[in-house]
Amino acid sequence: MSARAKAQADILVVGAGLAGLFLALKLAPRRVAVLSPAPLGEASSSAWAQGGLAVALGADDAPDLHAADTVAAGAGLVDPVIAQLLAESGPDRVVDLLALGVPFDRSVDGQLARSLEAAHSRPRVVRVAGDLAGRAIMDALIAAARAAEHIEIVQGLAAHALLQDAHGRVRGAACMDASGARVDRFADETVLATGGVGGLYAVTTNPAQAVGGGLAMAARAGALIADAEFVQFHPTAIDIGRDPAPLATEALRGEGAKLINSRGDHFVSELLPRDQVARAIHRERESGRGAFLDARDAIGATFPERFPTVFAACMAAGLDPRTAPIPVAPGAHYHMGGVVSDIWGRATLEGLSVIGECASTGAHGANRLASNSLLEAVVFAHRAAERLCDAAAPASAPARGELPPPLPESERTALRALMQAHAGVERDGRGLAAACAAIDEATARVGDANELRAARLIVAGALAREESRGAHHRTDFPEASAPRRAFTFAAPHAGLAHASAAA
Ligand code: SIN
Repeated sequence: MSARAKAQADILVVGAGLAGLFLALKLAPRRVAVLSPAPLGEASSSAWAQGGLAVALGADDAPDLHAADTVAAGAGLVDPVIAQLLAESGPDRVVDLLALGVPFDRSVDGQLARSLEAAHSRPRVVRVAGDLAGRAIMDALIAAARAAEHIEIVQGLAAHALLQDAHGRVRGAACMDASGARVDRFADETVLATGGVGGLYAVTTNPAQAVGGGLAMAARAGALIADAEFVQFHPTAIDIGRDPAPLATEALRGEGAKLINSRGDHFVSELLPRDQVARAIHRERESGRGAFLDARDAIGATFPERFPTVFAACMAAGLDPRTAPIPVAPGAHYHMGGVVSDIWGRATLEGLSVIGECASTGAHGANRLASNSLLEAVVFAHRAAERLCDAAAPASAPARGELPPPLPESERTALRALMQAHAGVERDGRGLAAACAAIDEATARVGDANELRAARLIVAGALAREESRGAHHRTDFPEASAPRRAFTFAAPHAGLAHASAAA
């Protein structure tokens, strides 16, 4: 076989997090290849999710209430139809996960236990063993995917570009294996499920691989991108010098943990929407007073059983959260913007679908409601599967795509520092313009690497949005203007086009 090996599947799923694996399982009996650059479960944000899955299940709750909370958190940019669809589909997808063996926590009466998280009007987050939901869900999916005959798991292969035919139809992905050799994977349908962008920032709760690969690949191929400037910062990444930073789940605040500064002053209400809490922590740290999550009274001695992941991370750094407050900082956590998808997970290019964090469905607006991400991943993976299960195969045609250059390590470090400094919790026009120029200079030096392309979309979107809304806070434009979604697309071999539409 030539160095440029070829393979064909009915459906190629790029990414093996929750969205990618859930879709692959639902696609039976179609032949599915799932690309996982790292060993399964190791490089996926889904496996790191601590909070759980938001779903309206209780007698005191209803999908309408969940949808209303989702819309309110999203600061004017959530599509209410999508919020309703998400909330109404949640209970059925939880049934699917239970059938796959996910051991959601139960209360004494045998019902699924429900926790409260910020900006939810009801306790509705279903969890596993306190803070292990992501790990437990991924373990169940990985076991099922490994056992499924219709799924080929392709480990160690990373997609870097989309393959397109002469009409622009997507027909697979150009990949690199661990040795750096190019491998083309062809398919009738290609699905991006590549996760987020947190790894573009110096402080993040995401795996290092989450650097906007799907966003960059789709943008380069000419797909429509929306609202790339909306990056959610989790308020309480644990500040113990680790990269990525371990997370102190929002559920801790839901259970009564307090935010205090180094003087012991309580400086913000813990259950405000995530963007507001993140900004309050950012400002407290900038003022030199520091920020700490104090769980001594609310959790205390029960910490190891109730939040084993957070406890282990703290203890590994020599910090006992039963007796000492946890130092925290906002960390890049979730990308609300992304590749535009319709209600069936269809992107704007023929042959391309997009699900999970790299998609922009309209569900999260300017600020995602806590624990809605796992829900969105399974709801849209299920919908995409319903559509793709009996999609007709296109007539065959040759396809090609150029691999972008890799980003050298020193450039990656510089880019992360740049994004942290200028495209973080608070931004302004000067810093964003400087960041755009620095990214352009880096692109001129090393070529159009995917990381630079994704960072450029975020920074250019943030510069163009002259208002403050949700997670996008401009100190030079502190007020919100009329709500609008912002769209970008690049016609192949042409410049960027921008458009916006009222929400
Ligand atoms: C958390 O546990 O705080 C994270 C949950 C989420 O990002 O939705």
